[in-house]
Amino acid sequence: MSTKPSRGELTDSDSENPSEELTEVVCLESDLQDGQMMEVEVGHHGVLLTRSGGKYSAIGNQCTHYGAPLSKGFISGNRVRCPWHGSCFNVHTGDLEEYPGIDCLPCHKTLRQEKRIKRMGTAVPGVTHTVLLLGGGAASLSCAETLRQENFGGRIIMVTREDLLPYDKTRLSKVMNVESDSILMRRMEFFHQYDIEVWLRKEALSVDTDKKTVTFDDGSVQSYDQLLISTGCRAKGLDVPGMNLGNIKMLETNEKKNTNTEFFLSHSVLFLKVKEVVLKSGKVIPAEVLIVGIGTMPNSEYLKDSKIQMTSKNFVKVDKYMHTNVPDVFCGGDLAMFPLAIAKNRMINIGHWQMAQAQGRIVALNMLNKTTELNSVPFYWTVLVGKTIRYTGYGEGYTELVIKGQFEDRKFLALYIKDEEVIAAAGLNFDPAVSAVAERLATGKVITKDEAQYVKSFSLFYTLFLYSHLLIILVKLNLNNMTPERQCREIYFCEK
Ligand SMILES: Cc1cc2nc3c(=O)[nH]c(=O)nc-3n(C[C@H](O)[C@H](O)[C@H](O)COP(=O)(O)OP(=O)(O)OC[C@H]3O[C@@H](n4cnc5c(N)ncnc54)[C@H](O)[C@@H]3O)c2cc1C
Ligand code: FES
Repeated sequence: MSTKPSRGELTDSDSENPSEELTEVVCLESDLQDGQMMEVEVGHHGVLLTRSGGKYSAIGNQCTHYGAPLSKGFISGNRVRCPWHGSCFNVHTGDLEEYPGIDCLPCHKTLRQEKRIKRMGTAVPGVTHTVLLLGGGAASLSCAETLRQENFGGRIIMVTREDLLPYDKTRLSKVMNVESDSILMRRMEFFHQYDIEVWLRKEALSVDTDKKTVTFDDGSVQSYDQLLISTGCRAKGLDVPGMNLGNIKMLETNEKKNTNTEFFLSHSVLFLKVKEVVLKSGKVIPAEVLIVGIGTMPNSEYLKDSKIQMTSKNFVKVDKYMHTNVPDVFCGGDLAMFPLAIAKNRMINIGHWQMAQAQGRIVALNMLNKTTELNSVPFYWTVLVGKTIRYTGYGEGYTELVIKGQFEDRKFLALYIKDEEVIAAAGLNFDPAVSAVAERLATGKVITKDEAQYVKSFSLFYTLFLYSHLLIILVKLNLNNMTPERQCREIYFCEK
């Protein structure tokens, strides 16, 4: 900016010690146009400087999820979407607006701070209202945190049959031999500080929605005022001889075994160290590693005798507020069958980390009667041979693919087309295109097949989404004077 920023713009108003405040000139005003962002350095800290609606804002540049530089992401109105896994942050406040991150960004305040926990309350003495959360995964955690962020003063009890506090499950298939301590989402002090009770090694055996109680495997019974069911799914085991040998363990938690046979479960995929595989036909295939991907099954057996409505495959049906058919009973995460807004409210089930978190948040808001619909856009990532593939949208039923880049170069963007519209995108080494598509889908605007096809290069593709509020007209001017390359690069924008 042309003038030295005021202390209020780039200092930490939360800071206890005014001497820790930093004020630095970071750029010229003309360096940043409206709708743009850039990374600047203030006292050796990366800061994301944005200009939106004429207003300059500065928030942390490092995504609170896995630390991606947000300046390489996608800015749209008041929010920036991370290029790696799609977290969104409000550029004016640094608040998290879309998962999978769980923390907010510093808002050019405590510039030394890498992350910030959104302001949260605690239990209020005398408030007896009890929210019971079944499962200690992504959905339960975001529900608990949102309740406290929204100043819910009652009792929150999170119950899981695992022996670990909520942890980042997505790491299990990416980082082998990971230490359990390093993947915890929050530590015990956090739960104590915000009065969130976490009961470990306790399995729900039944739910009585008339009495509003849940019975556990240790014989205890807990009553609730409101209930979240988010016990997720588990991998289907391979039903073959040898699976029950003593030294074979299914690894879908952070547990790890150094036995003759090693298992690593990646969502629904099982990696086995083996010698050979015998097919039904009798054919023997020598193999060192076997990858089994035979799907997951819902952890919902304990609901079978309840009045909670389930699908034929035992997923729990919910509406767009994550209500089940029973009052005060909600479901979220991998176990929920829900109407997906971007798929014209088709009832589907999605096993994505970010979607489970988003649903946990919607549950909390609706528990508090802050009526809120689920409208998150699915965003998924996975790592294969060291490369991250990102995916957004809902591609089921696609009939065509529009490809940018080359598979062979390991740099591509695949746009999934159905009914002449882009319904999903997958990308490798093509950031922030997948985030750009997610952002466009989140605004409810259609990307037509024509738009997807016209755009030849990544930079134009990016521009297309950046200027999505404009009508795009491809004009071929002075064709005689242009090289073929220039012809396809010329693109003009006109206001609608
Ligand atoms: C190895 C692995 C890798 C993954 N990688 C990715 C990825 O890269 N990106 C992505 O988007 N998603 C990924 N996923 C999917 C993602 O982890 C899930 O979508 C997400 O965890 C679902 O959250 P949830 O809260 O619904 O359930 P979960 O996180 O599964 O939590 C459910 C909890 O409930 C507990 N529970 C079950 N039954 C009971 C009971 N009766 N009583 C008490 N507790 C019970 C379970 O033990 C579990 O702790 C991965 C999953 C796995 C397993
Ligand atoms: S690093 Fe930003 S969403 Fe994961």
